[in-house]
Order: sequence, then C-alpha cells, then structure tokens
Amino acid sequence: MAASLRIAVAVTCALVLASACQGQGLEVGYYKKSCPGVERIVRAEVRKFVYKNAGIGAGLIRLLFHDCFVQGCDGSVLLDPTPANPQPEKLSPPNFPSLRGFEAIDAAKDAVENACPGTVSCADIVAFAARDAAYFLSRFYVKIDMPAGRLDGRVSNASEALDNLPPPFFNVTELVDTFAAKGLDAEDMVALSGAHTVGRAHCSSFVPDRLAGAPSDIDASFANLLRRRCPANPTPGNDPTVNQDFATPNALDNQYYKNVLAHKVLFTSDAALLTAPETAKMVRDNAYIPGWWEDKFKAAFVKMSRVEVKTGRQGEIRKNCRVVNHGHPHY
Ligand code: HEM
Ligand SMILES: *[C@@H]1O[C@H](CO)[C@@H](O)[C@H](O)[C@H]1NC(C)=O
Ligand SMILES: *[C@@H]1O[C@H](CO)[C@@H](O)[C@H](O)[C@H]1NC(C)=O
Repeated sequence: MAASLRIAVAVTCALVLASACQGQGLEVGYYKKSCPGVERIVRAEVRKFVYKNAGIGAGLIRLLFHDCFVQGCDGSVLLDPTPANPQPEKLSPPNFPSLRGFEAIDAAKDAVENACPGTVSCADIVAFAARDAAYFLSRFYVKIDMPAGRLDGRVSNASEALDNLPPPFFNVTELVDTFAAKGLDAEDMVALSGAHTVGRAHCSSFVPDRLAGAPSDIDASFANLLRRRCPANPTPGNDPTVNQDFATPNALDNQYYKNVLAHKVLFTSDAALLTAPETAKMVRDNAYIPGWWEDKFKAAFVKMSRVEVKTGRQGEIRKNCRVVNHGHPHY
C-alpha cells in the first residue's frame, strides 16, 4: 500500500471506524524487501526451543494472546520492570510467574538484529514465533500466513493486564464480552480456547473454584487425579503444574474439545463453553468435524494478531525487546 494511502486509512480508522479497521496496515510478506530472511530466522530459533521443550511452544502461543489483549499486539508484554516503571504487564498476576517463552523471543530478536538491524519489531517477532510454535506443535498441520507491520509500544502497565485478560473462573458471558471488547466474536473465542490442548497450568489456577469450592461439573476420576497432583491449598511456594490436555499433552490438535465434552478440562472457563447452546454447538463441531477446528483456529489466530496494532507514529522498532528505545518516543 502506498504511504499516503496508508496514512489516509490510518487517519480514517482513528477517527471513524476504530474496531473495523484493526490491523489494516499489516501485510503478509511485509519484510520481504527490508529483511527477507526474517521469517526463516525466527522459525529456526523457535524450532530449537520447541524441540528442546514443547512447553515453550505453548508459552509462545499464550504470549501472543497476552500481548494482543493488553495495549494491542505491540510487544508491551515483553518489557522488563525499570525504576520508572516498576510494574509492567509481565509482573501482573495473569502473567507472573506463569508466562514463558521470553528467552525464545530474545534469541529470535538477536538473530534477526544480526541479519537486519533496527528493522523488525518485537511485536512482529512475537506473532511470527507464536505462529511457528503452532506449526511445530501441530506437526506442521496448522500453517498460517502471518501478516506483519506492527510497531512496538512504549507503555506496559500491570493493572491493564489484570483488566483485559480473562481469569480462569469466568463464565461464558464474561468470556464472550472480554473477547468482544477486542473485536473477536464467540466463534473466535471458542476456537482460540482450543490452545488449551497444549501446555500446563499451575494448581492455583483451578483448585480454588474447581476442586475446593462448590461442586463443579468436572469428571470425578479426573478430579481425583488432579487432587493427587495438587495441594488442597496451593501457595506461591507450593504450586505444582499439570498438563492441560492429559490425552495428547504436547499436540496442538482438537483433543481439547473432546476433553470439554468429557468434562476433563481444568478451568471454569473451559467448562463454560458447554453452558450456552451456541458455544456448545461450536465445541461439538470442533470436536467431531475433521479439519473444522484447524480452519477456525487459523483465522481467529490471525484476527487476534491484528488487535489494536500500532502503526506510523504510534510506536517504534525496539532494539532490545525488554526495554523501550532511548530518546524521545516517536509521538
Ligand atoms: C478464553 C479465555 C482464557 C482463559 C480464562 C485462559 C486462562 C489460562 C490459564 C489460567 C492458564 C494457566 C496458567 C498457569 O497457571 O500456568 C492458561 C494457559 C494457557 N493458555 Fe489460556 N486462557 C484463555 C484463552 C487462551 C487463548 C486465547 C490462548 C491462545 C490462543 C491461550 C493459550 C494458552 C496456553 C498455550 C496455555 C499453556 C501455557 C504454558 O504451558 O506455558 N489461552 N490459560
Ligand atoms: C497504570 O494504570 C492504572 C489504571 O489505569 C493507573 O491508575 C496507573 O497510574 C498506571 N500506572 C502507570 C505507571 O502508568
Ligand atoms: C456470569 O457472571 C456475571 C457476573 O458475575 C453474571 O452477571 C452473569 O449472570 C453470569 N452469566 C452466566 C451465564 O452465568
């Protein structure tokens, strides 16, 4: 897109149609002239990390979600605390201590800076890395053309993470509303929840409202298995993790939906998908129709990667993904 047209679109979106214009400036192959190797370089780094520890792949997929829902997909989740900003997003309860994959992003950024200094944003590296993690964990089945052109933000505030990320005790209306606030519909929300087919959860994320409190709809034998793995009162010093998907723990597949139907899922938010007829139908389609979920997931993943992206003067290309650039912000 020509620069002048892009500015015109950006201005129109800012003034009139903010939600309909999400990610308008992004393009597949955005770096093909400025840094032609970038997607290959990021994929090679992600491959190393994921083959050493599949859990990092799960972490990278979650990292994109947690980046995009707070200040848009702008790498804000990567920023470390500083004396001037002691409580960035990454220290917020939804992210700390559970969010992982930061070292893989650092390694990818280092490799990319070696090839093309100052050219590729951390926000785009997060999106590429999450896409690549999905590719490897699905054994090359989930292939996504990831548009790029996001800029990095300079704001990262822990309380915004708390306000924008859904907690695991949310019910279906709260989940739908949280995603709608980011321009994602119920179908996107259900498809993206399928990411809970990989990775892990700390006992503290589900014991209080699923095993300890009021009776839940959780399968009795699954609940007993979880009770053997988790303390009755998890604390920061005693908070083990369990796999999200006991059937195929490291495979990004539609097993999650079968687990939902079998009442063998960890969170209230997972079980909640069966409590509204529309989302329950989506769960069944994702579980039973071959290839259905993968298509929905790919589309929703790209849609999520476009949420509130920063372009033009709203952002910068960070040199180090953990710190904002020195000097004046661009705006
Ligand atoms: C629908 C609302 C969602 C809620 C309430 C939710 C909540 C959670 C919680 C509480 C954990 C466990 C953290 C821990 O205790 O270690 C988790 C893990 C995870 N979530 Fe979600 N999540 C949601 C949606 C998503 C979405 C949209 C994605 C990505 C597309 C995602 C990907 C993941 C992954 C991959 C893990 C495992 C992470 C790891 O092993 O490091 N989640 N989620
Ligand atoms: C973070 O956001 C909260 C709530 O919006 C606000 O009260 C607080 O001042 C912000 N903190 C910083 C360091 O900007
Ligand atoms: C979900 O929770 C909200 C807030 O607690 C409540 O107002 C609403 O009725 C609940 N919805 C369902 C479907 O349980």
